[in-house]
Amino acid sequence: MENGAARTAPAVIVAIDGPSGTGKSSTSKAVAAQLGLSYLDTGAQYRAITWWMVTNGIDIADPWAVAAVAGKPEIVSGTDPAAPTITVDGTDVSGPIRTQEVTSKVSAVSAVPEVRTRITELQRSLAASAQRGIVVEGRDIGTTVLPDADLKIFLTASPEARAARRSGELKGVDIHATREALIKRDAADSTRKTSPLAKADDAVEVDTTDLTLQQVIECVVTLVEEKRAAK
Ligand code: DC
Repeated sequence: MENGAARTAPAVIVAIDGPSGTGKSSTSKAVAAQLGLSYLDTGAQYRAITWWMVTNGIDIADPWAVAAVAGKPEIVSGTDPAAPTITVDGTDVSGPIRTQEVTSKVSAVSAVPEVRTRITELQRSLAASAQRGIVVEGRDIGTTVLPDADLKIFLTASPEARAARRSGELKGVDIHATREALIKRDAADSTRKTSPLAKADDAVEVDTTDLTLQQVIECVVTLVEEKRAAK
């Protein structure tokens, strides 16, 4: 090798999209950790800005009120897949962003174009600064945020499988109520005007209904390695 320098793998950008309960977060984190890549949970960013709106008494039902303050909170994401972090104006919000209140309001806040522009800028700058590459998970990563990603994955699963997984994560919550809430949130995320949840034309669709998490991780790791080898 020239000058004895070790050959490093080229940076690779991986976009993983899909609705909730498809194993997106667990898969994305594990793939990033296994391949030495950074990891970004974009849902956490939308939850963080929603948490700030709720905490500051902004009327979520009023898109103009939300748009007017979309630039105010400083949202910082730590991209180590072993310990991802999220802060708003210096406060760790990793717990508060998972409350039922934030979950029920995040679709409305994330539908506001000014919110999406703001968060998309953050996402692009984090992806551009990830030296070894990054796995970015969300709803519109392959279609809008990083349309030139090296690899795009779209994870799906039946509503029953997704509700069962979410209920397991949340321990003890009613599976039927979870299923209804998931379907409602997916419908809102898929039908909004600005960059809805959608599969990019060049994304690889993986139906995870009958796969174990380990099988999904292995499938995605193989796809990333193939892309890296071809670079
Ligand atoms: O992945 P999650 O459930 O934490 O995402 C929370 C919400 O954030 C989801 O209902 C829609 C929104 N979201 C989005 O609009 N675009 C993304 N790229 C990621 C999430």
